[in-house]
Amino acid sequence: MTSERINIFDTTLRDGEQSPGINLNPFEKVEIGEQLARLGVDVIEAGFPVSSPGDFEGVEKIAREVHGVTVCGLARAIEQDIRIAWDAVREAEHPRIHTFISTSDVHLEHQLRKTRDQVLETAGRMVALAVSLCDDVEFSAMDATRSDPDFLAAVLSAAIAEGATTINIPDTVGYAMPAEFGTFIRGQFEKTPALKDVTVSVHCHNDLGLAVANSLAAIEAGATQVECAINGLGERAGNASLEEIVMILETRRGDLGKTTAIKTTEIDRTSRLVSQLTGYDVQPNKAIVGKNAFAHESGIHQDGVLKERTTYEIMNATSIGRSQSDIVLGKHSGRHALKAAMEELGISLDEEELNQAFANFKKVADKKKQITAIDLEHLVGEELREQSDIYELRSYEVMSSSEFIPTCQVIIDKEGRELPGKSFSGGSMESIFMAIDDAVGTQGKLKDYQARAVTGGKDALGEVRVVVEVMGEDYAGTALSIDVVEASAKAYVRAINNAYRAGAVK
Ligand code: KIV
Ligand code: ZN
Repeated sequence: MTSERINIFDTTLRDGEQSPGINLNPFEKVEIGEQLARLGVDVIEAGFPVSSPGDFEGVEKIAREVHGVTVCGLARAIEQDIRIAWDAVREAEHPRIHTFISTSDVHLEHQLRKTRDQVLETAGRMVALAVSLCDDVEFSAMDATRSDPDFLAAVLSAAIAEGATTINIPDTVGYAMPAEFGTFIRGQFEKTPALKDVTVSVHCHNDLGLAVANSLAAIEAGATQVECAINGLGERAGNASLEEIVMILETRRGDLGKTTAIKTTEIDRTSRLVSQLTGYDVQPNKAIVGKNAFAHESGIHQDGVLKERTTYEIMNATSIGRSQSDIVLGKHSGRHALKAAMEELGISLDEEELNQAFANFKKVADKKKQITAIDLEHLVGEELREQSDIYELRSYEVMSSSEFIPTCQVIIDKEGRELPGKSFSGGSMESIFMAIDDAVGTQGKLKDYQARAVTGGKDALGEVRVVVEVMGEDYAGTALSIDVVEASAKAYVRAINNAYRAGAVK
């Protein structure tokens, strides 16, 4: 049986980024965008360009720098939004404008304050504008599942008549149930014959925990694109989780007869990167990417798996890229081994980059016995993020004891200029953060602090994430080091860099 291809439209960087507390800078967005391209998604929805200059910059940067994938910008059905979205995506290899308007009466009456006729007219006119700018236009009918099916069909027909190439039918508030949603989608195919000439997409929210089930019901009813996010990120309870949809289609391919272009062995790495940069932990029992998703705790299960893996496992951990790579480097590994290991991670380095990476690798390898693929992946990310920082931690010295007040001195580098800072107060961590504030001239307020070991062992790399309030706004910073004190200082400096990018630090 030949499998029908389902397009994976990833909205981690748009709907996912709308989750409270997530605020990725443009460099972090590109880092995630590149990993999404490596994962093999068909479309990256990179942001909502009109919403802020930072969002515009992130979308534009992804459009310029991430290749081999469609890059999409979101726009309300408003002329200014559409023109700005086009400006942000126009340099992509494959640009897409995604424009939307609500179609449910509750939204029309209370939010848009428009009549059905006005919405119908606006949808057609704005799709026509988008089509005059870009060949690839997606139209979404927001709150479709609570809309009158006949009115929805009229709006979708108008959008198709004006040239929309993808029609998205979202369950914006996560209210639908699978069988009902499948029937709803089939109904739209009947009412709107032109749907068979375009890509039909769904975008399901997870308020009742049904986003993945609803997406599958829609696929069975004829949808050929699903909108989803890594780790199920998104507004409120999130969007359908990309990894769950993909692995269901993969594991049950014989029954469903659908396939995607996703390279499933990149799933685990993508999930880790998104979790690291957004600060949203993955629950241990989360399907597919949770820490325990492939762990067998009970004796009976362990016994069964040892005798025959399929007794209790329907998927193999290696299929999502977990424990698949046996890269282990150490202090005796040479430049060649590092280059090969990087290539296995999908990262190719030129001569100069390799020299820099090798120098950094040696520093860590001197202190840490074994460097695994996960360590390498984190070290590469850390190096990338350092390159985009204006402020850098040059050195620090903390004196701390149970007997006296900690003192700290730091030197921060700002584009080649050394900024010294010192402090005497509080705990040793507080003292470092205050010394950094002294050097930069900020008065940051620490709102959150989390530290974790990247892998096991006493010599594990430490990763720290902080959220710092500067001038009334929160900025996050994540950093990595073999020393958790250094990781903390670097994370604080990274948050200051994010405040600088937003204009809150001079
Ligand atoms: O949930 C929703 O309806 C959306 C649209 C913008 C597609 O996010
Ligand atoms: Zn949404």
